[in-house]
Amino acid sequence: MWRMNTCREIAATLTTPGKGILAADESIATMSARLEKAGVTPTADSRRTYREILASTPGLSDGVSGIIFCEETLTQVFSDGRPFAQAVRDLGMLPGIKVDTGAKPCPGLAGETVTEGLDGLPARLARYAQMGAAFAKWRAVFTITETTPTWAAMACNANALARYAAACQEAGLVPIVEPEVLMTGSHSIARCAEVTASVHAAVRQQLSLLRVDLAGIVLKPNMVIEGEDHAIQADAEQVAEATVSVLRAWPAELAGVAFLSGGQSPRRATANLTALQAHRTPWPLTFSFGRALVSPALQAWRGDETRVGAAQEALATHVAANAAALRLRGELQPA
Ligand code: G3H
Repeated sequence: MWRMNTCREIAATLTTPGKGILAADESIATMSARLEKAGVTPTADSRRTYREILASTPGLSDGVSGIIFCEETLTQVFSDGRPFAQAVRDLGMLPGIKVDTGAKPCPGLAGETVTEGLDGLPARLARYAQMGAAFAKWRAVFTITETTPTWAAMACNANALARYAAACQEAGLVPIVEPEVLMTGSHSIARCAEVTASVHAAVRQQLSLLRVDLAGIVLKPNMVIEGEDHAIQADAEQVAEATVSVLRAWPAELAGVAFLSGGQSPRRATANLTALQAHRTPWPLTFSFGRALVSPALQAWRGDETRVGAAQEALATHVAANAAALRLRGELQPA
């Protein structure tokens, strides 16, 4: 029971009004590719340095409640020797960890994936909790084509998400439950809404079967948005309306919703987050952006130690813009 209470408290902290979550949990492979593209030699130390630059951005905790890292970062230390989890807590934020091992081809379902990482998960979670992590993340991925995602892919991924979430709560860690419907493709916003609603229904059913406490999880969904190759770009009000319509199926006890940015430009992600605040919902609608927050910082840094301040300023500016969007909630909502 105390673990349930712990999870509820941590989930409430993560979704504190006016704050969001920073996703800095790219896998070693993804982070290395992004560093290389920015002209930085990818090594364990350059990945460590980059994450320390992000986490130690002055004033970050004004708009960020928690930071998600990958396992490598959680085993690393700040340049002053403090382990990342400790340093982040000292800076007034909660450290989290991505615990899935990635989306892999799903046997039986050609072209679709299932996210792996369940084997041995309880033991890993116990270790992460001991290392200071307060929450975890698991991302399931769905691609829209004429024939996908199939019901089978939704069922497999929803079951894995629920097993992960139940294991996290048993370990006293808050699970961030991330079912991501990708923007890849030319589908309409209506099709994204239909698929996202089906995916969420499958996830809700599995969470309920495995008795996951919704007040102790944070849902991390995609915004409902047209495919990146679709001819017409929906405006922020349309995205917000479509997104909230899908989310309304979630019960009021859900601790909060923290959106991923999914490849939207930083400007569009912030505009959509702002428009979302005009909707009255029983749960906070916040951000858990990766690229929309960190890409400008990486571009500013490019491995140059004289540009650390510029990188931190870029991150701080984008966090402040999204936190400011959240603070409009009261003003934008109808009386
Ligand atoms: O799993 C994905 C990340 O946590 C969020 O990244 O905002 O770049 O989609 P994104």
